Amino acid sequence: MPVKNRFAELQPEIAAWRRDFHENPELLFDTYRTSGLVAERLREFGCDEVVEGIGRTGVVGVIRGRTDSAGRVVGLRADMDALPINEITGLPYASKTPGKMHACGHDGHTAMLLGAAKYLAETRNFDGTAVVIFQPAEEGGGGGREMVEDGMMDRFGIQEVYGMHNMPGIPVGTFAIKPGPMMAAADQFEAVITGRGGHAAKPHTTIDPTLVASHVVVALQSVASRTIDPLHEIVVSVCTFRTESEAFNVIPQTVLLRGTVRTLDPKVRDQARTRITEIIEGTAATFGATAEVNYMNGYPVTMNAEENTAFALAAAEAVSGKVDTSMNPMMGAEDFSYMLESRPGAYIWLGNGDTAMVHHPAYNFDDEAIPFGSSWFAEMVESRMPAA
Ligand code: NI
Repeated sequence: MPVKNRFAELQPEIAAWRRDFHENPELLFDTYRTSGLVAERLREFGCDEVVEGIGRTGVVGVIRGRTDSAGRVVGLRADMDALPINEITGLPYASKTPGKMHACGHDGHTAMLLGAAKYLAETRNFDGTAVVIFQPAEEGGGGGREMVEDGMMDRFGIQEVYGMHNMPGIPVGTFAIKPGPMMAAADQFEAVITGRGGHAAKPHTTIDPTLVASHVVVALQSVASRTIDPLHEIVVSVCTFRTESEAFNVIPQTVLLRGTVRTLDPKVRDQARTRITEIIEGTAATFGATAEVNYMNGYPVTMNAEENTAFALAAAEAVSGKVDTSMNPMMGAEDFSYMLESRPGAYIWLGNGDTAMVHHPAYNFDDEAIPFGSSWFAEMVESRMPAA
């Protein structure tokens, strides 16, 4: 077995924790049960320090190695929250709460990092300090950002930070990582276009916001095709188009548009923001309508630092010998990006095999991946801070 032997032994126990989390999903910052169990176990394992309530419901555990000659501190992060999805897996340990589901495998991430914490607290075979970070609200709430803003990095002296996410479509036991962007920045825009409503049979007496908004939607396609360098990645999607009328014969007063913008480069991100705002306001003005644009920057790009990526890759090589460095970044977003903005580090994908995609109601984390994931977390600590 290429993984650490201890994790082959611990796998059934870690899988049992995972299935318990799976059965009891919690959303956003409401991870009270999960956070409570995580803190309880970290104390049981003998962590030197366990702190709850960081970034509201985040939990941090500190494990000191046998020695600390260099004063190095390595952070490892897992996410704990679930999604507002109705589970259709039919599994014996399926969600007990309708409308909530661990459809992104955060149950697996939390369990694997707990497993690594148990092993590290048992063995302490390293020179320095390991900090295990369990964050709430990865799925939209910015729990990672809240933990950083709560001063976590300074408080625990974290110098570098590593995160992992499972990925369907990559074989179990294979990792994937590369330097640079791994996940996109995800920004949102909302526009209320106001014209002048009226009788649909007398359109010349109105300023039809439905027509104006239609032109806006078409013109926004030019951002990807004509504004941004074709060698740079961008997605602009309009996802909501809502008039205030349900009628067959009324031209409405306003139309609401909402959409998302995904980019991998901060410069492209800023360029898109400027251009999208100009297009919406300018198109509205062309037709005599007005537009109120609200542009909201969301999670930043998940950016792997070159040197730390090499460390994370070496750890994955040591664990399984199978690392894919050829895959493309994903245009989804990840709020581990805030931790990577605050400290150098890296984010790695762990194969989940041939399952439904994350965020699908039939998705399930593969427990066979546990020894690989837990081993990688432990190996990050032991290889970055080798025992003196
Ligand atoms: Ni996720």
